[in-house]
Amino acid sequence: VTGTSIGPDDFRRVCGHFATGVTIITTIDAQRRPHGMTANSFASVSLDPPLISVAVDHAAAIFPALEAGAQFTVNILADSQEALSRRFAEGLDERFDGVAWHADGTGHVLLDAALAYLRCDKWGEIPAGDHTVFIGRVISGEVNGDGKPLLHYQGRYHAL
Ligand SMILES: Cc1cc2nc3c(=O)[nH]c(=O)nc-3n(C[C@H](O)[C@H](O)[C@H](O)COP(=O)(O)O)c2cc1C
Repeated sequence: VTGTSIGPDDFRRVCGHFATGVTIITTIDAQRRPHGMTANSFASVSLDPPLISVAVDHAAAIFPALEAGAQFTVNILADSQEALSRRFAEGLDERFDGVAWHADGTGHVLLDAALAYLRCDKWGEIPAGDHTVFIGRVISGEVNGDGKPLLHYQGRYHAL
């Protein structure tokens, strides 16, 4: 079959049947300003070396900082962080205001209550349609307590 027979609404509806966790991808720009965006396109890619991927819309506010930067962080959200997930998907300018976060010693932006973190060096980027797939080489990672993950399915948030 050639050509595209699926429209954007059907594409979203069908893909929405794949249940995912939710992450906020963060990075810091040359002016030391934090950037963050809700993303569920996160996937682990390779064990050796340890690689992950995330697809980011070219129109996303974080995109120039990811393009220019050398590292980014995957914050895997806990089920208590639905409001944070919404906040980082709303297009707010000052989305970090009032949010508990810190930059660690290596410049990674960590959201304090996240379930887990992956600190990544940018390993590669693959333009893919209106998104770019950023591939990160995982430098370190940790689990932050014993909470449960935030889930996303059919456009809604769920808990395990
Ligand atoms: C659950 C969820 C998952 C999302 N996953 C992605 C993603 O993987 N890649 C992406 O580019 N946008 C994703 N988005 C959309 C962005 O979060 C949103 O378009 C963006 O934050 C809009 O504002 P900004 O460009 O100012 O950041 C997702 C949104 C939600 C609610």
